[in-house]
Amino acid sequence: MCGIVGYNGTKRAVDILLDSLSKLEYRGYDSAGIAIRDKDIEVFKSKGKLANLKEKIENIELKGTVGIGHTRWATHGEPSENNAHPHISNDGSVTLVHNGIIENYQELILKLEKHNYKFYSDTDTEVLTNIIDYYYKKYKMGPIDAINRTMVRVRGSYAIAVMFKDYPDEIWVARKDSPMIIGQNKDGVYVASDVPAILKYTNKVYYIDNLEAACLKKDQVIFYDLNGDVIKKELTCIKWDAEAAEKEGYEHFMIKEINEQPDVIKKTINSYIQDNKIDLARSGLTEDILKSFKQIYIIACGSAYHVGVCAQYILEDLTRLPVRVEIASEFRYRNPLLDKKGLAIIISQSGETADSLAALRECKKQGVKTLGIINVVGSSIAREADYVLYTLAGPEIAVATTKAFSTQLIVSYILATEIAHIKRKINKKTYLELIKEIQTLPDKTKNILDNLTKSIQKIANKFSYIHDAFYIGRNLDYAISLEGSLKLKEVSYIHSEAYAAGELKHGTISLIEDNTLVIGIITQKEIYEKTISNLVEVKSRGAYIITVNPNDLDVSKVSNFTINIPETNKYFYPSLTVIPLQLLSYYITVSKGLDVDKPRNLAKSVTVE
Ligand code: AGP
Repeated sequence: MCGIVGYNGTKRAVDILLDSLSKLEYRGYDSAGIAIRDKDIEVFKSKGKLANLKEKIENIELKGTVGIGHTRWATHGEPSENNAHPHISNDGSVTLVHNGIIENYQELILKLEKHNYKFYSDTDTEVLTNIIDYYYKKYKMGPIDAINRTMVRVRGSYAIAVMFKDYPDEIWVARKDSPMIIGQNKDGVYVASDVPAILKYTNKVYYIDNLEAACLKKDQVIFYDLNGDVIKKELTCIKWDAEAAEKEGYEHFMIKEINEQPDVIKKTINSYIQDNKIDLARSGLTEDILKSFKQIYIIACGSAYHVGVCAQYILEDLTRLPVRVEIASEFRYRNPLLDKKGLAIIISQSGETADSLAALRECKKQGVKTLGIINVVGSSIAREADYVLYTLAGPEIAVATTKAFSTQLIVSYILATEIAHIKRKINKKTYLELIKEIQTLPDKTKNILDNLTKSIQKIANKFSYIHDAFYIGRNLDYAISLEGSLKLKEVSYIHSEAYAAGELKHGTISLIEDNTLVIGIITQKEIYEKTISNLVEVKSRGAYIITVNPNDLDVSKVSNFTINIPETNKYFYPSLTVIPLQLLSYYITVSKGLDVDKPRNLAKSVTVE
């Protein structure tokens, strides 16, 4: 998720662009750039935070009143000045910034190379820039024709702002699936990825719909449909203040990111599954390489470790390979004995967690191939691992991970299904069924968010006073109870423990007393009666039982409050059971009046031991 901005008016563009970009840094911050038009178009880019760009141009007199800008969250091509936007077509006719993903950029490269286009970066955006240039030159019908032909030809998502060398007083924009807002006041016209970037200048905005384009002149905006016909739009007034706008109207980043999960899960699935087939080739993991592994190690910290516990059950059950999951800080000091024919999977949102990075290096030292399941493109673990499977969660601002966690689960399911299929442990029919079921998870996640948020918020308010909570389950339900417990602890400061349901009676059940909150996760049909009987044991000692279970399991015997989730394949329940647990933790914390986005003592990425 990147941030684009643009301005066309009577003021100096550079000041407005830099100010607007600073309001979008939370959307991505691995590089930034601007293009300012005076007589010519001048482009300035820098790696890292926006401050680096500001420093680079602080002594340069930029009088131009037309410009575009960008802050990047890398999806294609590592964070670097070369890959930073704006991108420029081969002969400088087209300059462009982009937020989104062009899914068919490889085939477009082949097309453009046939017409002698060359590329200086690893980005899909540079390809998009040259495709617009290609149509602009081929049909000579001007910007709107080139943009419309491009929108018909490319697949993916985009919000773009474009400057054409031959049209000095115009900025052209277009969008599909990526957000864009256009504002206007007496000083000119503004475009941005979302409201915070322009709210300081105007609250009068236009909304541009999918597959529409617009020409931003100094004092007017002209909208076009895909046929190139002009369409009328009304200026509307927005009510958000700037702070609320950064969270797109949500009260906190955590609840915003919880609600982004259907979208980012879908994006992650689509980046690995096309036409009902899994394609991991971009990671370098060929079928032969995947077939060669005889053992799997999964190493991570915190919530990423909990994904590993889930993945252990799924990978071992599907692939019949021995799988061992370890906490990175333990792994790195236990002098591990590793099988050189093994695969070490390091799961990390930030890709910078010190213990996980050290574990990766230990594996490499022992000659074990390493795979990173990473959210931040070009992070240390991503760069040092032999293979990388990226999650497309976008920047995660809240310290407590939610959407990154969910996309890591998705990548684990896809990897397990692919290895099982390649090793002939599942037949084609099962392979296709698993793929089909994975593709239902975004909608099922949305179903939970739409239908259960209110009731979970209500029950959460009843438990803001508690000092202890227990999460129990078996198999994958135990794995996700680890995550539910951590979510509650880290944001609400309520002590909680996750227990394998069968383990409670080996001591911990002595802590259960009247009204102790016990959350039972029950999804694994073959063993659900076992968990039910464990819940009967704690209920008979006074516990208050909340259950999270699919509609078709009868828990009426034990449950004081039932959270019913949609059914899915047994392997994929963690994606659905975790959502109510995230919501419960969020609302209990909010009802306690705590800072849910920045809990005490915590950091988003633990880059120290
Ligand atoms: C989870 O909500 C925490 N933010 C924390 O446990 C986190 O998962 C852990 O520090 C690992 O971080 P990483 O995924 O960036 O490696």
